[in-house]
Formats: sequence, structure tokens, C-alpha cells
Amino acid sequence: MCGIVGYLGLKEAYPILINGLRRLEYRGYDSAGVALINGGINLYKTKGKVSELEAFVVDKNTKGTVGIAHTRWATHGEPNEINAHPHFSESEKLALIHNGIIENYNVIKEKLIKSGVKFTSHTDTEVLIQFIEFIQKAEKVDLVKATQLALSQVVGAYAIVIVSRDEPDMMIAARNGSPLVIGIGKDEFHIASDASPIIEYTRDVVYLDDEEIAIIKRNEKLQIKTLKDQQKTPFVEKLELDLCALEKEGYEHFMLKEIFEQPKSIRDSIRGRLNIERDTIAMAGIIDFEQRFLNARRIIFTAAGTSWHAALVGEYLIEELARISVEVEYASEFRYRNPIIDERDVVIAISQSGETADTLAAMRLAKSKGALIYSICNVVGSSIARLSDAGSFTHAGPEIGVASTKAFTAQVTVLTLIALLLAQKKGTISKSKFNQLINELDTIPSKVEETLKVSEQVREMAKIFTYTRNFLYLGRGYNFPVALEGALKLKEISYIHAEGYPAAEMKHGPIALIDKKMPVVVIAPVSGIYDKVVSNIQEIKARKGKVIAIVSKGDKIVSALSDYVIEIPHTDEVLSPLLSVIPLQLLSYYIAVMRDCEIDQPRNLAKSVTVE
Ligand code: G6P
Repeated sequence: MCGIVGYLGLKEAYPILINGLRRLEYRGYDSAGVALINGGINLYKTKGKVSELEAFVVDKNTKGTVGIAHTRWATHGEPNEINAHPHFSESEKLALIHNGIIENYNVIKEKLIKSGVKFTSHTDTEVLIQFIEFIQKAEKVDLVKATQLALSQVVGAYAIVIVSRDEPDMMIAARNGSPLVIGIGKDEFHIASDASPIIEYTRDVVYLDDEEIAIIKRNEKLQIKTLKDQQKTPFVEKLELDLCALEKEGYEHFMLKEIFEQPKSIRDSIRGRLNIERDTIAMAGIIDFEQRFLNARRIIFTAAGTSWHAALVGEYLIEELARISVEVEYASEFRYRNPIIDERDVVIAISQSGETADTLAAMRLAKSKGALIYSICNVVGSSIARLSDAGSFTHAGPEIGVASTKAFTAQVTVLTLIALLLAQKKGTISKSKFNQLINELDTIPSKVEETLKVSEQVREMAKIFTYTRNFLYLGRGYNFPVALEGALKLKEISYIHAEGYPAAEMKHGPIALIDKKMPVVVIAPVSGIYDKVVSNIQEIKARKGKVIAIVSKGDKIVSALSDYVIEIPHTDEVLSPLLSVIPLQLLSYYIAVMRDCEIDQPRNLAKSVTVE
């Protein structure tokens, strides 16, 4: 949450910073601001999106070759202009942008107020910059030292950048728990929350580690120190990000583009891993820790949001195919409930962004108890990827729409590969079944392509349900997590209340909600429990509910019972979530379009949740 950008170089900073904010807007969009050094510090901020900041700044002085900018997802203090970043220190000599939370800000604030410091905002961020200035004056130290001293007393997560009126050719950046990347170009430096604002200027980047501070000075090399003033050698990595992947490329929204990219993102997640000719799956991370996996007492998945739904599919896959006991945990609960974990456990964190604060904390906890930490992650260089003992990237490419789509199917693809590989190594799957499933998995990208042809049909259907107020999503087995995911998509971008349920559990509550106004989406492809789902649909029809069914091509029984039918290609039940989720993504997308909602940046949400 919150996106931060900084620039120091020979070019005008303002266009680079605004461009960077647009790239990072998925991280929050309550308010935005920019500070530019040009003699003094020109600081502008507005409530709302980056476009509003641009409109506000249009007639202002935006000159300067050093600057910082911020797009906010509010934690402390309502989203208004005063609480927007950057924040000044009292003397207005220093300005700071911050992503994260300073947990002990109240204690520090009280101390500063007693010493006569005046505050203008309600944010924890202002407390930090005031604290740094206070230390600078009280201890008579330079800005680097003051920052080190202040950060040593701070509890919480931060990625910050500071500029100073008195030292106009310098920026200071630091991180603890929140992401920060430094781009090193020719005669210039870029700083950002992720690599997307940097890629068009340079591919050479340094990822800052926790409790490190970067000192960036014009005409000097990047310097990195720890909070305890230990010098570090910057480790420069090469970015491998495709710039086109950050553009909409003709689609109206990133979400639609990302839904349609799924044949490719699934193929990319399989590529180089699955070898059909040899009946093998290559996953270096699993093989390196083969014995830990094969002898694991349990595999524990920890994740949030859509990634948690992928983990549920993973539970079905690994328990059925590899016969290893699996638990699925919300990272936010797991981290606080004193779970029983030891070195016999394998903890797999699933995360698109690789930065979700709760997932990171859950991993740290499991690591401290000796478990093997594996990750399934989409962002190379992210904190989760770096904290793991090993992992598999999802290769879905950058996902920009806040509602996750292609990351989910890429996660499920990687989970399928892991389950099959473990099953093969453990001998819990027959050769013929393994063979059949890998061949089928190989056809999934083209079957997803075929599934996407329902787009027009779903768009028409969305017109009927544009103003519906409640939805129920039902599925069983592998398609129960898909029901949860379908309901989440609708809530996230259409703001329609929706619940996902295991179809048979409906009898224990949600059935009371069913009447002729209640649409029930039932995911009912061919499966071992197809007949049971048919009975569940009959229960809905007996109460006059409207059934929208997702069925396998040519289905007769469910289709005859349902009011609306969407057909998907036949596949093995084990792989069916990769197809059945697609019409649900499209349904939520088109309903949101009809309702005129902000598709890629739904209200109150952010894509990368770096606060707990
Ligand atoms: C936020 C996003 C969701 C995402 C969840 C977990 O809530 O809006 O789309 O599923 O975080 O994020 P992660 O990056 O860890 O998968």
C-alpha cells in the first residue's frame, strides 16, 4: 500500500515522478503529492488520484532535477490534502514520503509535542520526519546520522525517501518491511516501491534490505549503510521486465487484458517445467529440498485474498495426488495464534505481489520455528521471494488490475505441477494417471483460449444482473475454492454482496436467502460429485432461485435445470478450476462495467497490502 517514487539526475524530475506514480497507483489512490527541489522545496498535494494532482499542479512551478512523490492508501488520518504525502518537517527544510506504518508514533509524537514541536497532520509519517529533524538539531548530527538514530527507535514497517532543502543534491532512502528498489542509470538515480517506474530508464537495480539506508548523492556512487552505520556493498541486479506488459495494449482495462492473457500466463508458468516426452516435471526448488517435502509431516499454506483461494485448490491437489496432509491458513490469523510448527513442516507462502505484510510475518514466524519456507510468488526480487529457502515463480507477468485474475490461474498451475511432481516422487500416483494429467495440463492454455470465447455471452448476461444486490456462488470439491474466488471478484469490483459456499453447506444457512430474486452461480463441470451438485441445484430451484450454471460442454442435466448456462471445455476435474474461474472473472468484470465502477482501482482496496 502506498507507492513511492524518487528521482535525482540531470532530467526534469516532475514528469518522471508523475509517470512513476501512475505505474504505482495500484498500490493506493486516496491522495497524491510531489516535492521538488528548486532552491527551496516546492510541495504540492491533493486528495484523490494522481490525475487530480496533475490537474492541480498544471500552473505551478514544477522545475527541478531532484524530487519525491507519493500515492497513498490511508492508514492513519483520513484521506485528505493535509494527510497526503510528502510531509514537511517543522522548519520545512526536510520532506519525506513513506509507505508502511510507524506503530509507536504516538509515544514519539507526545515526546515531541512536549518539546514544543507543532504538527499539522494526523499521520504517523509526519511524526517520523519531525523526529528526524528534532534529533538532527538536538544531537547536532548530519541528516544521515539523524535518520539512522530516528529509525533505530521506530517500531513498524517503512520504506521512506527524504529530501533536504539544505542538501539539494542528495536523497536518503531506507526500508524495513516495505519494498524499495533503487535504479542506477547514467548520471541519475531512481527510487520506487517496485521496478515498474524504473524499467524505462535503467535495468540496473539494487533492492534494499531491511534496516538499510541508501545515501544517494549527485556525482557519487550509491552508498548503503545499516542503521548501525555498517557499510554495505550494493548488489546490482538486472531487471527482466517487459515494458509492454505495463501498458493496456488496446484493452479498456488492465483487468480485461489480464483475463485475456491467461492462456499465455499459464503457458509461461508451465514452460521449461513440464516435459511431456519424458514424463518429467522440473522444479529446482522442490528437488533441492526433495527429502524435506517427501517426509513433511504437513504442508501449511499461508496466504491472503485470492492467493488464499489458490492455496485451497492446492490443498485438494496435494492431498489427493501426493497424499501429504495439508493445512491452509490465513496469514493474518496464523501469525497471531501461536501455531504448532517445527522442522518437520513445510510452509508454502503464496503471494502475487510478494509483499503482503501478513504473509511475510507468517513466514518469519514459521522460519523461526525451523520449518522449511517455500514460496509461490509472481514478483522477482520481492520480499517474500527473498525470504524463502526456495520457491517457484508464477511467470504471470505484471498484474496491475487490483482484482487478481491471471495470478490466480498461474498459482493454481504451479500448485498442480508441485502436486504432480511430489506424487511422482512419492509414488502415490500411477504412471498412467500421471501421464494423463500432464498431457491434459499441457492442453489447458488452449482450453482457456476456448473458454474465453464465452466473453460476449457473459457480457449479455451481465446486463440482466447489473442491479442485483446479492449473489450466491456454490461449488464442490476443486470448485469450492472457485466459488469463493468468484464471489470475491464480484465484491471487489462491482460492490455487490456475494457469498461463496460449498454447495452442500447451503442447506445450513444460505438456503434461507433464496427466493426468485436471488441469482445462484453454480459451478458444475463433470466431476465425481456431479450428481450431488445436481441435487443441490434442485434444492435451489424448489425455492425459485435463479441458477447460472457453469457446465462442461454438451451438459444436459444441469443445463435443463438452470436458467442460464455457460459452457466450458471438458477437462479432468483436478484441472477444472483453471477453466471454471474464467467465466466468473468475466461476469464480475462486465457487471462492474455496466455499473460504471472503477474496474482497475476499486474503492478502498489496494493491490499490495504492505500493512497488517
Ligand atoms: C489484496 C489484493 C488481492 C490479493 C491479496 C493478497 O487484497 O487486492 O487481489 O489477492 O491482497 O495479495 P498477494 O500479493 O499476497 O497475493
